[in-house]
Amino acid sequence: MKSNVWHPNTQMSEWKNFPEITNAKGVWLIDSDGKKLLDGVASMWCNVWGHSKHELVNSIVKQTKKLQHSSMFNLTNQPVERLAKKLTTLSPGMNHVFFSDNGSTAMEVAIKIALQYWSNLGIKKTKIATLENGYHGDTFGAMSVGYIPEFFVNFKSKLFPTIRFPVPNKYRVPKNYTFSDYQNFCLDKIEKKISNNDSIAAFVMESGAQMAGGVIIYPNGFQKKINKICKDNDVLFILDEIATGFGRLGSMIEYENQHCKPDIVSFGKMLTGGYLTFAATLTTNKIYSTFLDQFNNMKHLFHGHTYTGNPTAASLSLTNLQLYEKYDLIEKVKSKSRIFQKRVNEFLDLELVGDVRTKGLVMGIELVSNKKNKTPLKTKKSINKLVFEEGRKHNVYFRTLGNIVMLVPPLAISSNEMNFLIDGTLKTIQGITSELK
Ligand SMILES: Cc1ncc(COP(=O)(O)O)c(C=O)c1O
Repeated sequence: MKSNVWHPNTQMSEWKNFPEITNAKGVWLIDSDGKKLLDGVASMWCNVWGHSKHELVNSIVKQTKKLQHSSMFNLTNQPVERLAKKLTTLSPGMNHVFFSDNGSTAMEVAIKIALQYWSNLGIKKTKIATLENGYHGDTFGAMSVGYIPEFFVNFKSKLFPTIRFPVPNKYRVPKNYTFSDYQNFCLDKIEKKISNNDSIAAFVMESGAQMAGGVIIYPNGFQKKINKICKDNDVLFILDEIATGFGRLGSMIEYENQHCKPDIVSFGKMLTGGYLTFAATLTTNKIYSTFLDQFNNMKHLFHGHTYTGNPTAASLSLTNLQLYEKYDLIEKVKSKSRIFQKRVNEFLDLELVGDVRTKGLVMGIELVSNKKNKTPLKTKKSINKLVFEEGRKHNVYFRTLGNIVMLVPPLAISSNEMNFLIDGTLKTIQGITSELK
């Protein structure tokens, strides 16, 4: 059957057809041939409990029967009120929540809140600072702050300029630097620029690690120091916890783990457990209060979506967050992350593997064609397709990011399933190694 579907970030000419997933249970996706695939990327990093978790399914059904959707324009609903309370209780320093539909929109909202905050105060600060190699989504504002050349070069002319700083990557430290020296170099650069430029409205970065940039885990204290530079220079600090919040790195709220106090933070992906699309942008009383004034002064936030504050997604998110507590999920993630750590060397022994980076329940395996020169692997066919096809043979579903094989399983994965995932990944990399010869 000829398909009319255009798939995301996909060279469609490479694919005759796509395996069709018909159902799923726990960490397993099942396709129309009955083949089981371990969901190695948690359905793009959002699945928490595995598929068909009955508490989550019931929550959707129950709320849909009562009120499936009602607008937040002039109205409110109970699930959204309760979820906002829950999120502000979980997130230190945060008092107000703006709901949107996905990670990209949550970042658009964050940027707009920051820019309008300064405008509401009558202060001219309009520039945005950010880190190179960051990723914040595919809409125009998000692309501007998370500019990755290979992804976004076609749209460059329409993106707003940002001030970008290098980020220390232990595997690729520039010549003549130790890692620690390079980290200091990056921080000095940020400090010098920010303290000499009073037009910077906000600094935007992912919290804990750059995920789409290839699992670049920040060194200890790096994020906290940027937070301090921002505070000292009256620059708003915006954190993106869309991929790293709610447990991925072994912490519920990663900025707390990093000892940071952001002004604005965005969550998405795992907020609903991976069952519906939803996202939230949180901010402080200090910021929110500048949006309060007489209507005619036009200081209210100029942003809104049709599905903003959808009660079904809100009710589902609440159930999901309650389950974290019920099952003590963060402690389990911490203990299971040791399986990844223990098995790192098995990957490093492989011919194609240059580096392995892991924290919590994420592992980034960097494929290289030359270990000595650290030359990133390049193949005729996309590496993603190669890895995906080989992975299928070993019952694992992969989606690589360029030359990085990402292991991002559902957080509630069992130890046996983690070992299955790791074994399958080792076999997959060995399999493509022989294919490339
Ligand atoms: C850190 C980060 N921010 C934002 C986004 C965009 O989220 P979405 O794909 O839901 O728009 C992503 C998606 O991968 C992400 O990893």
